[in-house]
Amino acid sequence: MWPRTDLIDLLQIEHPLLQAPMGGESTPAMAVAVGNAGGLGGLGCSYMSNDELSDNVALIRRGTNAPFNLNFFVHEPPVEKPEVYARTRERIATFYAELGLNDFPQPLQAPCDTFTQSRLECLLDLRPRVVSFHFGLPEADMVQALQTAGILVISSATTVAEARQLDAAGIDAIIAQGWEAGGHRGTFHVSNDDYGVGGLALIPQVVDAVEVPVIAAGGIGDGRGIAAAMVLGASGVQLGSAFLSCPEANISDAYRAALQSSSDDDTRLTAAFSGRPARAMNNRYIEAMAQSQHPFPDYPTMYSFSDPLSQAAEQSATAGFEFYLWGQSAALNRECSSARLVALLVEETRQALNGCAGTPQRST
Ligand SMILES: Cc1cc2nc3c(=O)[nH]c(=O)nc-3n(C[C@H](O)[C@H](O)[C@H](O)COP(=O)(O)O)c2cc1C
Repeated sequence: MWPRTDLIDLLQIEHPLLQAPMGGESTPAMAVAVGNAGGLGGLGCSYMSNDELSDNVALIRRGTNAPFNLNFFVHEPPVEKPEVYARTRERIATFYAELGLNDFPQPLQAPCDTFTQSRLECLLDLRPRVVSFHFGLPEADMVQALQTAGILVISSATTVAEARQLDAAGIDAIIAQGWEAGGHRGTFHVSNDDYGVGGLALIPQVVDAVEVPVIAAGGIGDGRGIAAAMVLGASGVQLGSAFLSCPEANISDAYRAALQSSSDDDTRLTAAFSGRPARAMNNRYIEAMAQSQHPFPDYPTMYSFSDPLSQAAEQSATAGFEFYLWGQSAALNRECSSARLVALLVEETRQALNGCAGTPQRST
């Protein structure tokens, strides 16, 4: 049924449907369910130690023989910027006072490292079928070491220029992540929050620009979106928000409840939690932080300023400081198991593609 089979052949999966690796939200159970249903399950691993990573891989392998994807952020190590820290403290002081927080934390505890040599060695040992990166790629010799070990390497692009850069680096497939996407934008360089390309424009232009299979991501909520991405030339899709409503997602009850009443226009891009732009449910804190264009501390140092706020707000049930990531199509979500979701998506795509007479070609 799939119009293109290059990605299916490459990944050795039945359906070109990737469940997005999602930092703290994706779980081994989700990756197992998606893999057993014929898609590619993924685990966001940046916040795990190598021991935790190995334990989670063992859990996945206990549940499935299907391939899976392990995902890592590759950000520049944060630079210490005392002036930015001081300005950030001023900007959030009223919120700290409101929530009864007296001491500002030292902005030194980064919750995740960038991709390191020790991580590489761990992966060469674990040998997943796929490793994906976000925010670019690690050093060329690291990419080569993974590929030489038979591991496929993929990464996200948010513009044609980024896609060309990834293609030139020789990776195996490219995720075209549209502006609609939930979670952190995979952009290589942090820039103005309000800049971005929507998927409908991005997907065909990336398809035209690169040699490798393109995986569309962002704002795809059901089979209609998958069929549309295929018609635009994508070889597969990656869905994140859609899987957040599945019971395998590791999200709090409050996050789940907020997601249930999400709407098309309830998210906003913000760097006010992590230091890099991410699409999340809009709230009072995000709105207030957007009033000024001053830069935030580098990713992920900004978390050491925002985490105490989110935690104190959660403990006191104060609304307005949640960091609930989802994208513009989350209102299309179904509450069902990850396996059922994959089956629904496949069937809906089949029907939607049957409604189109072939894949339209573009004349030059
Ligand atoms: C809750 C959440 C967490 C995410 N975490 C990651 C991550 O750790 N690594 C990554 O490469 N992408 C991450 N993403 C982005 C996804 O890879 C993907 O681009 C996005 O979910 C696609 O848009 P959609 O949410 O509209 O389906 C995350 C997305 C969400 C919704």
